[in-house]
Amino acid sequence: DTADALNRVHALVTAGPTREPLDPVRFLSNHSSGRQGYAIADALVKLGAKVTLVSGPVSLTPPAGVNFVSVETARQMLKACEDALPADVFISVAAVADWRPARAATKKLKIKGAGSEHPSMELTENPDILKTIAHKRKNRPGLVIGFAAETHDVEEHAEAKLARKNCDWIVANDVSGDVMGGAENQIVLITRDGSERWPRMGKEDVARQLAKRIADTLGDEGTG
Ligand code: C5P
Repeated sequence: DTADALNRVHALVTAGPTREPLDPVRFLSNHSSGRQGYAIADALVKLGAKVTLVSGPVSLTPPAGVNFVSVETARQMLKACEDALPADVFISVAAVADWRPARAATKKLKIKGAGSEHPSMELTENPDILKTIAHKRKNRPGLVIGFAAETHDVEEHAEAKLARKNCDWIVANDVSGDVMGGAENQIVLITRDGSERWPRMGKEDVARQLAKRIADTLGDEGTG
């Protein structure tokens, strides 16, 4: 029965952008809508999983039935993920900001008259949440899935990412066409056994296919 294919499975999903403060009124972020991550969380709930959705700021309503954790920064997202462990599967869909302003001012910065005509901003590297969770010695989820947006040499880059981040699967998004910002996705699923190119489909269909695939895999490996 597919409605309980993921019974007793705890899935941890990240979604959306992160928001990195520069001062109380300004931040660095990106255009991630959260749509693919929310769709995946929803598809997992519908297969009976217990789902923790850790989300950066987006304009979507959390799917019914998820345990929703709202965060802003990458560091908050990492903490929320670690607090949510143990999990059977971790799906890192969030577009985490790789860098953040080195210092977040407590008062609004006066950019004009700051002393230099072209003020500069020092950046510092954010934690890689996927890499951190995937390298845990204790509490590493049995199935760790990363996402990757690639424009060329999709398989090659995704395989390298799989190894570097210690993931089990990479869901590579071929954004070489007109996929960017659209409702459809062109996916190449990379596992340790090889890669498969999926037909172009809507993000909700990608979510359902992926959830089904997760259920098959955890079902095969699980205690039954
Ligand atoms: O290296 P790249 O940013 O392309 O990797 C994308 C994958 O890594 C996504 O699954 C994303 O959620 C995750 N990631 C992360 N923390 C970061 C950067 C990326 O979890 N700081």
